[in-house]
Amino acid sequence: MAATMPIAAAQVIPQELEGKIQARQARIGIIGLGYVGLPLALLFSDGRYAVTGFDIDVAKVEKLAAGDSYIARIGAPEIQEARARGFSATTNYSGLHETDAVIICVPTPLDEFRRPDLRYIINTAESIAPHLQAGQLIVLESTTYPGTTEEVLVPILEKNNPAGLCAARPGMGSHGVFYVAFSPEREDPGNTTVARRDIPKIVGGLDNRAAGLATALYGTIFRRTVQVSSPAAAEMTKLLENIYRCVNIALVNELKLLCLRMGIDIWEVIEAAKTKPFGFQAFYPGPGLGGHCLPVDPFYLSWKAKEFDFHTSFIELAGEINTEMPYHVVSAVTLALSDRKKALNGARLLVLGLAYKKDIDDLRESPSLTIIELLRKAGAKVSYNDPYFPFVGRGRKYDLHMKCAPLQNLNQYDCVLIATDHSDYDYPRIVREAKLVVDTRNATRGIQSNKIVRC
Ligand SMILES: NC(=O)c1ccc[n+]([C@@H]2O[C@H](COP(=O)([O-])OP(=O)(O)OC[C@H]3O[C@@H](n4cnc5c(N)ncnc54)[C@H](O)[C@@H]3O)[C@@H](O)[C@H]2O)c1
Repeated sequence: MAATMPIAAAQVIPQELEGKIQARQARIGIIGLGYVGLPLALLFSDGRYAVTGFDIDVAKVEKLAAGDSYIARIGAPEIQEARARGFSATTNYSGLHETDAVIICVPTPLDEFRRPDLRYIINTAESIAPHLQAGQLIVLESTTYPGTTEEVLVPILEKNNPAGLCAARPGMGSHGVFYVAFSPEREDPGNTTVARRDIPKIVGGLDNRAAGLATALYGTIFRRTVQVSSPAAAEMTKLLENIYRCVNIALVNELKLLCLRMGIDIWEVIEAAKTKPFGFQAFYPGPGLGGHCLPVDPFYLSWKAKEFDFHTSFIELAGEINTEMPYHVVSAVTLALSDRKKALNGARLLVLGLAYKKDIDDLRESPSLTIIELLRKAGAKVSYNDPYFPFVGRGRKYDLHMKCAPLQNLNQYDCVLIATDHSDYDYPRIVREAKLVVDTRNATRGIQSNKIVRC
């Protein structure tokens, strides 16, 4: 694995590319124009760089070419402004040889056995290699286990490039080399309190030249860059951040179950604990973990840890607790209906919110999907409402084929289940009109009604 270098090592940055970066003449290629890659491409475009986006999804590339967006929080005018500054998108990798820096933002899911599925990184590396140029900077941003950059990305690039270029490593000359770094994405979708450029950017280079170039590049866009000693340290930094969240969410989820049994309001307790000015950070319980990151990333590390004969107990335990939460929600709905002499089998239910968290248009790994499937399996007649999803079809793990139900005649449902607390919902009205409300998010806080069951 990683040859490390001291952070304080002298930075002998290749001057040509560094000069181009400082003059904003470096051409940037972003591979993977999804939730991470598209905003990053726009950020670099906004920073006066010539940016080309590469994606295998023809529909996305066509939308961008038409000046449209496919991500709710990015408006079409933003795409059009970027296009006017020269931003373009393509499915054709041949233009990659004209770029000076290539940033990879492709998916890193788990396979059906919860093992890292690196096929997108591997395919991307194989697509880049034929176009690789001496002096180019290649940065991986996809979240992955420590070692991926050096053990997976670099060998493919080195083996498959026709010019026989090597990744620059400590002690190597600058002839016939390209530069490689890892820099994790730290976006928090839906969070408008921190501007993207104010989120410090972690950088770990294969050698100090790669680290220096990546730091220089990101430093023109982000207010602060933080250099660590290797790609593996940067990869691990991202995993630590996500595992920290995942474990703490599991902790409050477990304590919520205890509090429910003890008749204590966990939300009140968290608000009180939050007043401590040190040593406590608030995490909130919910119907389960969702998103592309938290339910997935920790298992990248537990998989890698096995190579070192190491069992990551906290990750496994947190995974167990968080995975149980949708089942807990279904039990709570069953009990709440049973209290009203109604069976789940045959009950009409409205699930509010499909997105994995509020105010975003992302349903990857959303607990709402699991909950809907479980409720349907139990014989309930389930509808959903989510302003971000007019319909939901087939995903990697679900096949729902449902249309968004209007938020009307709520008393036709035996139960309204709040799975995602979108800000646009009028919760007092929902409680007023529904027969029964099961709330997994404390969205009905402050509303007094015996129709509400908090779970
Ligand atoms: N979404 C987030 O909030 C977030 C936050 C931090 C880190 N990440 C990490 O960033 C990475 C990307 O996540 P995302 O949410 O942007 O994924 P995404 O699915 O939204 O986008 C990935 C894009 O890559 C494209 N792609 C796949 N293979 C390709 C290839 N060979 N060549 C070109 N394009 C290809 C896909 O078509 C898609 O448009 C993942 O590793 C994820 O864990 C995501």
